[in-house]
Amino acid sequence: MNTKVLDAFTQEYKQLLESELRTLVEKLKAPPIIKEAMQYSLKAGGKRIRPLLLFATINALGKDPKDGLLAAAAIEMIHTYSLIHDDLPSMDNDDFRRGMPTNHKVFGEAIAILAGDALLTFSFEVIGQIPNEIASSEIKLQLVIEMAKAAGSEGMVGGQVADMEGEEKTLTIEELEYIHIHKTGKLLKYSVIAGALLGGANPSQLENLSAFAHHLGLAFQIQDDILDVEGTPEVLGKPVGSDSSNLKSTYPQLLSMDGAKDALQTQLAQSKQYLEKTGLNINLLNEIADLIASRDH
Ligand code: IPE
Ligand code: IPE
Ligand code: MG
Ligand code: MG
Ligand code: MG
Repeated sequence: MNTKVLDAFTQEYKQLLESELRTLVEKLKAPPIIKEAMQYSLKAGGKRIRPLLLFATINALGKDPKDGLLAAAAIEMIHTYSLIHDDLPSMDNDDFRRGMPTNHKVFGEAIAILAGDALLTFSFEVIGQIPNEIASSEIKLQLVIEMAKAAGSEGMVGGQVADMEGEEKTLTIEELEYIHIHKTGKLLKYSVIAGALLGGANPSQLENLSAFAHHLGLAFQIQDDILDVEGTPEVLGKPVGSDSSNLKSTYPQLLSMDGAKDALQTQLAQSKQYLEKTGLNINLLNEIADLIASRDH
C-alpha cells in the first residue's frame, strides 16, 4: 500500500483545519474562559479522521477539498464536544483524552459541560458561514438537517444513551451494533455524506458512499473497543480498560478478541465493496479505510 499520497494529503489538510478551528474560536465575542476551554480540547489534536474523510470524499468527486474546510471544522467541533461530555464523571469518567487531562479535570465540570454546549451550537453557525459560491442555500440546509440528525437523538446522542443504559447488562450483538452505529457511526457517516453533498455527488454515488461510510463507522468503533483492551495509554492518548471498568458490552467482550477482529475485517470488506461501486477515484478513501482498521490510536 502506498501511503505517501495519503500522508501528504493528511499533512496539508490537517494544517488547514487546525488553523481554521483556531481562527473560528478566536473570533468569538465570548467570556475568555469558555473560549479557552473550547480551544483546549480542539487544540489537543486527535486524528481528525472525520475531516479527512470529508476532504477525501470531495477529492474522489474531482472537486477541491478546500471547499470542505468549514464543514470539516463543524464536524470536528461536534466530535470534540461529544468527547468532552463522554469523559465527564457522570458518563465514562475518564481523566485523559488526546494525551492531556480531560476538559473537566482542567476547567471543572460546569465549564466542561458549557464548552461542549458551545462547540455543538457553534458548529451549526459554522455550516451557515459556508459561502454561497461553495454551496447553495439548498445544499447548506441539507448539510444542517443531516448534521442534526447524525448528532442528535436519532444519531450519536441516541447511541450514547443506549450505551449508558447497556452498562452492567449483557447485550445481544444486535443491541451492541445499534450502539456502535449510532454513537460513532452516524457522525462518521455524516462526514462522508457532507463531502458527497459538497462535491456534487449524484444519487447513486451518494447511496454507495453512504453505505461505505455506514460499514466503516461500525468498523471504527469495533477497533476502538479492541484498542480499549489491546492498546497502550501512551499511544492512544486516553486510558485503556475504560470499557471494562464501566461494565460496558463491547465487541471483544461479546465475541472474544478473535471474533471482534473478524467482525472488523467483515465490516471493512463490506465498506470497500460499496466504495468500488461508486466508480470514483477512491484511492484516498481506500487508504483511510485501511488506516481505520489497522490504527493503533
Ligand atoms: C474517539 O474518536 C471516540 C469515538 C467516537 C470512538 P477518535 O478515535 O476519532 O478520537 P480522536 O478525535 O482521534 O481523539
Ligand atoms: C464514545 O465511545 C463515542 C462518543 C464520544 C460519541 P467511547 O466512550 O468508546 O469513546 P472513547 O473510547 O472514550 O474515546
Ligand atoms: Mg462512552
Ligand atoms: Mg469513553
Ligand atoms: Mg472506547
